[in-house]
Amino acid sequence: MDAYQSVLALHSYWAFATLGLLLIALLNSFAGLSAKRPFLKRDRQIALIALTFTHIQFLLGMVLYFLSPKLEAAKAAGMGAVMKDSNLRLFVVEHPLTNIIAVILITIGWSGHKKAAESPAKFKRLAYLYALGFILLLSRIPWSQWLN
Ligand code: HEM
Repeated sequence: MDAYQSVLALHSYWAFATLGLLLIALLNSFAGLSAKRPFLKRDRQIALIALTFTHIQFLLGMVLYFLSPKLEAAKAAGMGAVMKDSNLRLFVVEHPLTNIIAVILITIGWSGHKKAAESPAKFKRLAYLYALGFILLLSRIPWSQWLN
């Protein structure tokens, strides 16, 4: 296994944990919001674990980008050809760009909850921004290739 294959495998399995933890954190925040209960230390911990996994997934993605033969293929083909090839475009442009935006939104949700004073506002910022980031991530997963 070379460096590329190892990072690909890590990015691939870590994605399960990341998406699972994000789903738990956002459902927990929506549940807290609708129950009108106080925001507890446990709620903060659930959100923080999801944030940490997301950031690690992001870093793995950045490393993978420069190791992947897809980047070489894209360079060889040229940007015009990449944009016309839906598969290359997904890996080289859409997946990275969309996921960077998703990670930023999730991070804004985290810092937003810290700035909010009241429990409902804390839950709301985490729930909405984590959910938005989660949907963006799901929209650009290479489903046909993942673990195939
Ligand atoms: C943060 C959330 C992210 C999630 C949940 C995620 C998830 C995934 C998944 C499930 C795959 C398919 C793996 C496989 O084929 O087994 C993948 C591939 C890939 N990801 Fe991500 N990713 C994320 C962020 C990023 C970022 C930010 C970048 C780059 C800047 C990136 C670059 C790549 C590349 C280049 C591949 C394809 C590698 C190859 O097949 O050669 N990812 N990602």
